[in-house]
Amino acid sequence: IMQLHAVETTAITWSGTGLAIGLWEGETDLSGDWAALDKRLGGTISEIIEEASFKGKAKSVLSARVGSGEVRKVIVVGLGSKDDGDWETLRQAAGAAAKRARAEKCDRFGLALPILEDAAGSVQAIAEGIQLALYQDKRFKSNGGKDGDETPKENPERVELLLPGVDGAIAQNALDQAAAYVAGTVLSRELVAAPANVVTPVTLAALANKLGEEHGLEVEVLGQEECEARGMGSFLGVAQASDLPPQFIHMTYRPEGEPRKKLGIIGKGLTFDSGGLNVKVGAGSMIAMMKVDMGGAGAMFGAAKAIALLKPDVEVHFITASTENMISGRAMHPGDILTASNGKTIEVNNTDAEGRLTLADALVFADKLGLDAMVDLATLTGACVVALGNSMAGVWSPDEDLSAAFVTAGKAAGEKLWPMPMEPSYFDGLKSVVADMKNTGPRPGGAITAALFLQEFVEETPWAHIDLAGPVWTDSASGINPAGATGFGVRTLVNWVLS
Ligand code: BES
Ligand code: MN
Ligand code: ZN
Repeated sequence: IMQLHAVETTAITWSGTGLAIGLWEGETDLSGDWAALDKRLGGTISEIIEEASFKGKAKSVLSARVGSGEVRKVIVVGLGSKDDGDWETLRQAAGAAAKRARAEKCDRFGLALPILEDAAGSVQAIAEGIQLALYQDKRFKSNGGKDGDETPKENPERVELLLPGVDGAIAQNALDQAAAYVAGTVLSRELVAAPANVVTPVTLAALANKLGEEHGLEVEVLGQEECEARGMGSFLGVAQASDLPPQFIHMTYRPEGEPRKKLGIIGKGLTFDSGGLNVKVGAGSMIAMMKVDMGGAGAMFGAAKAIALLKPDVEVHFITASTENMISGRAMHPGDILTASNGKTIEVNNTDAEGRLTLADALVFADKLGLDAMVDLATLTGACVVALGNSMAGVWSPDEDLSAAFVTAGKAAGEKLWPMPMEPSYFDGLKSVVADMKNTGPRPGGAITAALFLQEFVEETPWAHIDLAGPVWTDSASGINPAGATGFGVRTLVNWVLS
């Protein structure tokens, strides 16, 4: 509903309710149009900057009423050191300015941030920052999030990016790109934030069909029997206690003409993880958070939406083996032995290490598609959260170039991924007396043994694994992420596909 436009207006000619400027650290003396505007306003802007001892540090924001004429309020955002300035600097600054504009009830908001060498990338980052920071999820509030009777205005109603030096066509194209990245991120946030009684394997399959119809993606959904026929005993072992049918979802985006490359994106799609008979009872086990356990699939769906909108010359396969991990008389017993679709046998020494069991059959399936590379994304281990905290994901790959590609794609997206080791000797921890392997090893290095387990199901295809158990959710708003689901991974995936 909010409108976002690129305009060629300068600060001195712009009019509206709130105008924001970004200043680099240590460069807080106004110049050019801003000096002229400041002069017109009787020096109010430079006075505010002076009074607040504003130094332009990243994350610092100032705002003040400056009059009642062309510009009512001015917002000043710090950009930090110019040497470190990148797209993420702009994304965060744009988000901070937009949030302040909302707090200041600026219905018509203008934003002037410096444009870096790559104008298109800069404008895209700014547009992403504004929309992602202002996003609010009110789907589950009975009154639509209203405090009183009256409907609050959706501030800001109109946002204008002041881009006097930027070619109009380049700016518009950047806004369109941003719109696709935002749509994908928002879809992922909404899937992850929705509880397990709303997002189920069945609703995810319905979503796949809807995306297929809207965007011409090919969609294949395998039910219980079709998965049985393919020998997906590992996935089905996890699914067997649920009253909901497992759904193996495969969407394909095919470009017109010969694809430049063929890629696969596989997401862990546990719509709820109770732990199974190794039920999540411990204080830190967070059973009530386990709707987020389809965060990998959420990123996969978000990327599918964005890719379908952007239409790159790359073939992309989107896959999730979706189910719940539940408890019933039909549940897996700890110690059960499952056979995956590549014939390998797994002793389930812990039913709570279910994600890797579902991914095993999904990887075997994807490995047969003749792809140039594939990646899985999974809220796989608490151990990864212990290692890297809540704001970064771990990335594993036997192919260092591939993990580096994800780090790079993440950097441009403003998503932090850290390369983690595939230490082969740790596979000893997964050795089983009775089967080919166990599904869990000792606690130390638990995120690494999880990656080594997955590797057993990849033969042909260059593969990377991303554990996003930490960054998929945030308890409190930070930067461009409101409290709740972050949509982590979508923008990294899209950058990777486009690269
Ligand atoms: N879904 C969890 C991992 C998780 C933890 C996701 C925290 C989001 C936030 C996963 O299925 C799990 O239970 N992993 C176990 C593995 C263990 C049994 C080896 C874990 O991390 O404790
Ligand atoms: Mn689990
Ligand atoms: Zn899980």
